[in-house]
Amino acid sequence: MICFATSGVVFVELSGLSDLRACSDQPAGRPSATFAEGRVLIRANQMELHVRPLSENLAFGSIVTDIDISSLEDAQVRRALTALWIDRGLVVFRGLETDEAGHIELSSIFGTPEIHPLRDPAKPGRAELSDIRYDSVFGEIYEFGDGSRRGGWLPWHFDLVYVDHINHGGILRPIVVPEDGGETGFIDQIAAYDSLPDRLKQQIEGLEVVYRFDIDASHQRFGVTPGLRLLRMDPRSSKLMANPEGFPEVVHPLVFLQPETGRKVLNVSPWFALGIEGMEDVEGDVLLEDVIAHATDESRAYYHKWVATDLVLWDNWRMMHCARGVPAGSDRHMQRTTIVGDYGQGRLRDARAIINDALRVNV
Ligand SMILES: [Fe+2]
Repeated sequence: MICFATSGVVFVELSGLSDLRACSDQPAGRPSATFAEGRVLIRANQMELHVRPLSENLAFGSIVTDIDISSLEDAQVRRALTALWIDRGLVVFRGLETDEAGHIELSSIFGTPEIHPLRDPAKPGRAELSDIRYDSVFGEIYEFGDGSRRGGWLPWHFDLVYVDHINHGGILRPIVVPEDGGETGFIDQIAAYDSLPDRLKQQIEGLEVVYRFDIDASHQRFGVTPGLRLLRMDPRSSKLMANPEGFPEVVHPLVFLQPETGRKVLNVSPWFALGIEGMEDVEGDVLLEDVIAHATDESRAYYHKWVATDLVLWDNWRMMHCARGVPAGSDRHMQRTTIVGDYGQGRLRDARAIINDALRVNV
């Protein structure tokens, strides 16, 4: 039996209906163990949440089933789900029949859903929702070294790593699911740090990485995709890229402690990285390339194949993610909430610089 503790009394059970135990002696939101084994049942106020690992082969991720929107109002359920998110980094909610309002309600459990600072008030729809859309008529298309083409492809990254404040998370909800492709990839950077060779752990302690926004992933300096070419830029990206003076360099530590647990996180995004602060030389670039190769090791990746009733919550302070894209003639439409918060470790490289607000809730 594993006891999953929150500040309230939440009963947890593994593999059967016996041996229930009350867990009421832990600080709020701090799990006493992980959900890495067995099927877990959380009971709170006559409600049950079924939770199981996303994969037996991964150190992160859980899937929650048999949940209905009304149970989300329960304070103990909300605490248990928050603790699960912090513990496992990625939570798939499956079969939760919901709409835009439910998407926002679910997001509010984990923090405040952000409203885009430059959002047009005349635009229809809810202000907390951002559209992540590949449109076959005008969306971004990349060509790869083998000549294949994908729409809506995104390389490995953390959201908002190119600004000084990084949001805590987000929830994706599919609106238009393509028949082929469209998966979202995730890699846990707590597990990535844990598995770093000791030599690299010692070398990167105390180092920082410099980032600057550039939507064109063929310009990446690290974690380069061989032969990548941007064939068509989405007009919304073109509009953003037309004002590069609003993209100052920012700096983030290569390692930081997860605030809720003290676990070390490998904090590096190949997309937007320019180099190691103070090591702008071959030695620094080789070191960063080594670390990024480890951080993006596909053997530790999970690719989520979307179905219509899935919502996926991730912790953006530890889960690197990417988009595999779709055939250029397909459409894909997701909506995303942005859960506010800042881990407090980022800064402008030049404190006098000014960030274009349009960047703050972009990719
Ligand atoms: Fe993203």
